[in-house]
Amino acid sequence: MSDSVDRQTLHDRLAPHGQEHLLAFWDELDAAGRSQLAAQIAAIDLPLIDSLYRGDVDQPDWAELSRRAAPPPAMRLAERLAGKASSLGITPAEATARGREALAAGEIGVLLVAGGQGSRLGFEKPKSLYPIGPISGATLLQIHVEKCRAIAARYEKSAPLYLMTSPATHDDTVAFLAEHDNLGLPDDDLLVFCQGTMPAVDASTGKLLLSEKGALFQSPDGHGGTVAALAASGAIEHMRRRGVKHLFYFQVDNPLAPICDPEFVGYHLLAESELTSLAVAKSAPEDKLGNFVLIDNRLNVIEYSDFPADVAQQLDSSGNLKFWAGSVAIHMFDVAFLEKSLTLKDSLPFHVANKKVPFIDPAGERIEPTKPNALKFERFIFDLLPHAARPIVVEYAEEDSFAPLKNAPGAPKDTPEYVQRFMFDQAHRWLAAAGAEVSPGVNVEISPLWALDAADVRQRVDRSTKLDKSQYLAPG
Ligand code: UTP
Repeated sequence: MSDSVDRQTLHDRLAPHGQEHLLAFWDELDAAGRSQLAAQIAAIDLPLIDSLYRGDVDQPDWAELSRRAAPPPAMRLAERLAGKASSLGITPAEATARGREALAAGEIGVLLVAGGQGSRLGFEKPKSLYPIGPISGATLLQIHVEKCRAIAARYEKSAPLYLMTSPATHDDTVAFLAEHDNLGLPDDDLLVFCQGTMPAVDASTGKLLLSEKGALFQSPDGHGGTVAALAASGAIEHMRRRGVKHLFYFQVDNPLAPICDPEFVGYHLLAESELTSLAVAKSAPEDKLGNFVLIDNRLNVIEYSDFPADVAQQLDSSGNLKFWAGSVAIHMFDVAFLEKSLTLKDSLPFHVANKKVPFIDPAGERIEPTKPNALKFERFIFDLLPHAARPIVVEYAEEDSFAPLKNAPGAPKDTPEYVQRFMFDQAHRWLAAAGAEVSPGVNVEISPLWALDAADVRQRVDRSTKLDKSQYLAPG
């Protein structure tokens, strides 16, 4: 096929959608540039882009839905700490025993999403490679992998790690793992897979944006892209071979994620839930967390920006926030449920966000916008919630489950310093609970390989332990 025919074919495909400007620089491209652009254009679902730009995808009326929402079925933290069965009829001891059994049977896998661009943090490499360890300098990825290795040692059975990257993070992540011998994970316990991308359009015209004369601007298609990427990459096949039936899902920016905590796993299994979510109690109605609510017996997350203030402020009969359950993006998924969701139409709709996207203008100049100029399209994993049978929510203390690294130093929250303070504080609580003394002003960081949780710390220290200088507790 000659170049001119190629161009004509592409033009005929683009013109009905008003996108033929993508070929404006065709004559300047070499053969490789043309074939790259042609492949990118062939991969775009142009009618989908049209309808996303027109906004004719049904948007739920969250204000109306919120008014008939109820709090979700839940195991509250106070009940867990008191060792009581909640309305779910499951005690913490039963849940922990069941979770341990499933981990020892190798039925649990770990699903870590690390495809985001980390734009707020402004770190030049993927966020997974940020050296968050306050003393060790361990990367986020190392901390997560060490937890996986500690789980494998404890249960004498590994929980394979399914690590999702995107074209924005893939090569650096894979190179880092290769350089560091997979951070000690055996080959069959780690599967790295890459998520898909979506183009962006100019917000005022709907025209697709070019990042170079021969390349479309593309960005990762959101953490909701995980499900399609799992299937396309062969990860589901790997799970089948390994007998993995349930996945602990979390996000790379949270070093406090209690990966595969047996109690959490156990509630999921004993409640026969297809999808269990970890929640923290909101401290105020306006907290910037997604809200878990039950609508028509289905679990939903309503983003804080869509949740009406008067509903957020409602109190229950004890005077506490009625809608207390904030999402920290930690879930247990049944693998069978994820497979089923692939066949459900519209279970993961695209959401539209107005963002700053640099682009090549019609004169061939690169423009760096100073304010949002483009619409980006992303899927959100929590849109799966309403499709799950018997969903439940389990409350954890925020200080034991959630400290996300989102922002560059200087922001009020979710900065490296903020996350590191949470890491020190958790280590200090675990040490204090085991009877050890940490001198004032001393900071202690714990490697997951030294202790995965408070119970492990109790095996390592006692009342005679005194830590009077800052240190990293790690094996060897
Ligand atoms: P965020 O939406 O907070 O994005 O992702 P981010 O990349 O961390 O940061 P900003 O918004 O650009 O500053 C939450 C989690 O979801 C993952 C991220 O890697 C992070 O673990 N994610 C997000 C993906 O894996 N893919 C995506 O397309 C988007």
